[in-house]
Amino acid sequence: MAKEFPLEPVQVQTIKTKFRNISGKLPDEKTVAEIEKLRKFESRSMRGQPPIIWHSARGFNVYDALGNKWLDFSSGVLITNAGHGHPKIVRAITEQLSKPLLTTYCFANQTRIELVQKLVSITPKGLDKVFLLSTGSEGTECALKLMRTYGRKIGGDDKSVIVGFENSFHGRTLGSQQMGPLGSGRAWIKNLDPEIVHVPFPDGFRNENTSFSLFEQSLEKMGVKSQNVAGVISETYQGIGPNFMPKEYAKALRQWCDKNKAVLCFDEVQAGFGRCGKMWGFELYDITPDLFCMGKGFSSSLPISGVVGRADVMDIYGPNEMTSTHSANPVCCAAALASIEVIQQERLVENAANLGKILQNRLNEIKSRYSKYIGFAPAVGLVGGLLMVKPGTKEPNYDLAWNIVYGCYRRGLLMFAPVGLGGGCVKIAPPLCITEEALNEACDVINETIGETI
Ligand SMILES: Cc1ncc(COP(=O)(O)O)c(C=O)c1O
Repeated sequence: MAKEFPLEPVQVQTIKTKFRNISGKLPDEKTVAEIEKLRKFESRSMRGQPPIIWHSARGFNVYDALGNKWLDFSSGVLITNAGHGHPKIVRAITEQLSKPLLTTYCFANQTRIELVQKLVSITPKGLDKVFLLSTGSEGTECALKLMRTYGRKIGGDDKSVIVGFENSFHGRTLGSQQMGPLGSGRAWIKNLDPEIVHVPFPDGFRNENTSFSLFEQSLEKMGVKSQNVAGVISETYQGIGPNFMPKEYAKALRQWCDKNKAVLCFDEVQAGFGRCGKMWGFELYDITPDLFCMGKGFSSSLPISGVVGRADVMDIYGPNEMTSTHSANPVCCAAALASIEVIQQERLVENAANLGKILQNRLNEIKSRYSKYIGFAPAVGLVGGLLMVKPGTKEPNYDLAWNIVYGCYRRGLLMFAPVGLGGGCVKIAPPLCITEEALNEACDVINETIGETI
């Protein structure tokens, strides 16, 4: 079980820079009292993040009501790609609210008409249809349903197997958690679907065999016939790293899916909307999937997700057969449309690509300085991770990762609690509008914190 950050007021060292402002006690007594109310009335599962009550957030900063200001390396949880509280997104939401038009179910609304066109205009040719939902898990559940329905339609009842990857994450609902078996997350499911199987992910760190033959061998070992595979789903990068597959592997996977008429789906819930220095993370592999899921950074704010894909797969269900009450809510659509426009106008994909090189260098430096404690330090675009290990092993070091997140919080750098296998990953994901100066300052904070923690 994850550790809770202590609710004890601790006097911290005053920090005042262009990007951070921290003083007094963290958390102070009033914050402690308020968070205690939350703990009393809310399920325990919602605890586990550093004790701040977010008051406002702008660009790449998060503020509490006392005037403390954190440099944000979380983006919430990779949500605010266009930056927190961008004025254009706020304006789009406000205009939609003031019409007023707050919900329409599946009745058409003008904002949704604009958004689906916009989305198709920024996705590769051949992926022409969009289905909008509210959360990332809804998106991956929908992909599961589409892959399996399509497989059985073209190949008969046996073409039903879904192949996912070990240590992947696609959400916390029944289907998504079976496709993404990370940790003990699916232990609650009694009757696991025998036709959802997993193969090793070629991350090059914990699984050093990155050849595509391992994919085929793993299926064979499980007795899965290639022609019975309806679909293959992978996070574009595994969130636990971020771990990317080699480009050659992705290309071989694309070919294998074509040969076996299996739908290839990438889960872009984390990777999309510029996070990896490309609008879509799968562009890094020079391939196009048949379907992909989006969420998190879609609107940089309100809940909206979706699946985009080939028309013959997306159109498999008829009118009113695949809907959700809050699909394409007009306020969320307005936010998403504005967020995509901001990402394009402010060239945030390019910013992520450029600053990504700096992030990679900084993480490499930190890794070589503390090589005994950091097993792997991948970064692509503006997503990175420090995989803390027990000295000299690949065993995750959750306590150390947790102490680093805690230490950074007290120094004015905000990250969410460690994630990944054994909770050993300190994940780095600033809003894509971050500047070089702020990125470097944040990396200095991490460096200093690790130095004082080990
Ligand atoms: C790759 C990936 N897919 C799906 C999800 C689920 O998204 P949500 O929490 O919005 O349901 C997440 C959330 O962390 C994710 O990282």
